[in-house]
Amino acid sequence: MDNEVIKALISRRSIRKYKTQQITDEELKQVLEAGIYAPTGKGTQSPLIIAVQNQEDIALINRLSSGIMGRDGLAYYGAPTIILVFYTELAMTDYIGILDASAACTNMLNAAHALGLGSCWIHRCKEVFETEEGKALLKKWGVNEKVVGVASMALGYPDMEPFTKPRREGQVKIIK
Ligand SMILES: Cc1cc2nc3c(=O)[nH]c(=O)nc-3n(C[C@H](O)[C@H](O)[C@H](O)COP(=O)(O)O)c2cc1C
Repeated sequence: MDNEVIKALISRRSIRKYKTQQITDEELKQVLEAGIYAPTGKGTQSPLIIAVQNQEDIALINRLSSGIMGRDGLAYYGAPTIILVFYTELAMTDYIGILDASAACTNMLNAAHALGLGSCWIHRCKEVFETEEGKALLKKWGVNEKVVGVASMALGYPDMEPFTKPRREGQVKIIK
């Protein structure tokens, strides 16, 4: 079997070095489209997905995220685009909201790879947007509803060759 979609799913890797050049609007649109077509519990479409390309806001998100880890530096590895995924009050439960947002993020990582873009899932979206500065950013972006941060990703043109770790034995069982 030689399926292009499966090949793309298997070959996606986290990218931790990016070119400074911004991705095109069309590439961004396609990645976001993949996110909103991910499955959601009971079809609520609970995620709110925010793509940030304003470099001042990106610098602040990097600072807040790195600060939570107790580090200086770029939590998003200098990527020119950051995508944030929240769940909204549309989610069936808080837990399902997290699953909905995670599915959206995974779709977007894979879509990015399929387009030849680099991406990396970055944690701490919840914590960043619980800070006063994070809440102020949401307000500035016109997000007035109650949202909870779940996942985020760095996105841009890759500037490194990623390494694929061999898969762990016993991770899959087939019961017949
Ligand atoms: C829930 C979750 C949180 C993650 N958080 C980070 C992160 O904060 N920073 C980072 O560099 N990578 C993060 N990653 C990426 C993982 O480190 C990466 O997926 C893993 O090492 C496997 O590598 P691969 O994506 O190249 O297959 C995260 C991945 C997941 C699923």
